[in-house]
Amino acid sequence: MRTKVAIIGAGPAGLLLGQLLHKSGIDNVILERQTPDYVLGRIRAGLLEEGTVALLDEVGAGARAHREGLVHHGVELAFGGARHRIDMKAATGKTVMIYGQTEVTLDLMNARRAAGLTAVYEAADVQPHDFDTDHPRVTYAKDGVTHEIACDFIAGCDGFHGVSRASVKPSAIETFERVYPFGWLGILSETPPVSQELIYTNHARGFSLCTMRSMHRSRYYLQCPLDDHIDQWPDERFWDELKRRLDQKAVDNLVAGPSIEKSIAPLRSFVTEPMRFGRMFLAGDAAHIVPPTGAKGLNLAASDVHYLAAALREYYAGKSSAGIDGYSAKALARVWKAVRFSWWMTSILHRFPDTEGFGARIQLAELDYLVNSKAATASLSENYVGLPY
Ligand code: APR
Ligand code: PHB
Repeated sequence: MRTKVAIIGAGPAGLLLGQLLHKSGIDNVILERQTPDYVLGRIRAGLLEEGTVALLDEVGAGARAHREGLVHHGVELAFGGARHRIDMKAATGKTVMIYGQTEVTLDLMNARRAAGLTAVYEAADVQPHDFDTDHPRVTYAKDGVTHEIACDFIAGCDGFHGVSRASVKPSAIETFERVYPFGWLGILSETPPVSQELIYTNHARGFSLCTMRSMHRSRYYLQCPLDDHIDQWPDERFWDELKRRLDQKAVDNLVAGPSIEKSIAPLRSFVTEPMRFGRMFLAGDAAHIVPPTGAKGLNLAASDVHYLAAALREYYAGKSSAGIDGYSAKALARVWKAVRFSWWMTSILHRFPDTEGFGARIQLAELDYLVNSKAATASLSENYVGLPY
């Protein structure tokens, strides 16, 4: 088989790239290791920047998000026993949309199917080859038969544990990493959210976040020790602990219910440089990971593939390589700003081993400054709603 762009991974990055390329008449094939149901079963953050929604619209996959997504104009920061609203719309003119990553993935899958495009699920042993030559290839096995795809370019959209980054020789790649000494315990429940907007809480017992998927489905997170196991967190314990970290008004409004999903995720910042290796590009989690604080992961995947699709469009339209030559630097400039922002939000909201006395006072001073200074509020807001592409 031959295609212009072989895309490895059918998460949001791979699926969105596939649709953007298709819209420009650039044929592509997606190879995914898992089944569609497995991909849709992964619960991740659910907050879209306006730029991400615009990209879904651009590929004709945004209609359901506009119907079902919740548009938020602000968020609340809670500390020192009180809640403070940040009006992001007033500060930036922009909003964010609450719409689950699972729904984004489903809408993109449906758009791909409707366009009659190839996505090979349960592709085993996917392997990129010869991307440092003009004739890259990808091999994979399906139902025990080995296949080969000859292509012009390979897009590694295969997440943090994917094969694309792992196929680059170590001397060609530099990585930067910060691992945080705690995790996020998350639950999903069929209950109305505690508040109209998200509540991020800095508390002596640890961070908490009240978020939602809809007006009848809530998502809550608690900072927890990294080595905790979900068995240690029966629902009752989760709700009790959440209540301890919330203000009285929130406690009074909180509707507890059985969890329909519960998981613990570690927090990590990770960046790969560069994001291009000859005729292979990395995009999304394959190239970088951010802690979930601020929900930048999916939005960064979207801006990466926007830059990459534009670069490939330019290449195929005018045979100019300037776009693909500039892809890595352009994507990384935005990536590092989001990495900085999510690291910073993580650092002001969580309990670290050395957050006692001095460290805790510094966090409170910073939060107080954030909610009371117009300049600080504007800076938080413009990063939260998403920096321009
Ligand atoms: N061969 C084929 N597919 C693979 C391989 C492989 N060797 N390894 C991984 N994959 C697939 C995974 O099964 C997954 O479906 O690549 C896909 C990568 O998808 P994501 O992990 O969702 O990454 P990405 O598309 O970059 O989306 C970024 O997802 O992880 C979150 O926080 C992140 O919200 C962000 C978004
Ligand atoms: C979520 O809805 O899961 C979510 C929202 C905002 C965050 C992190 C996660 O900062």
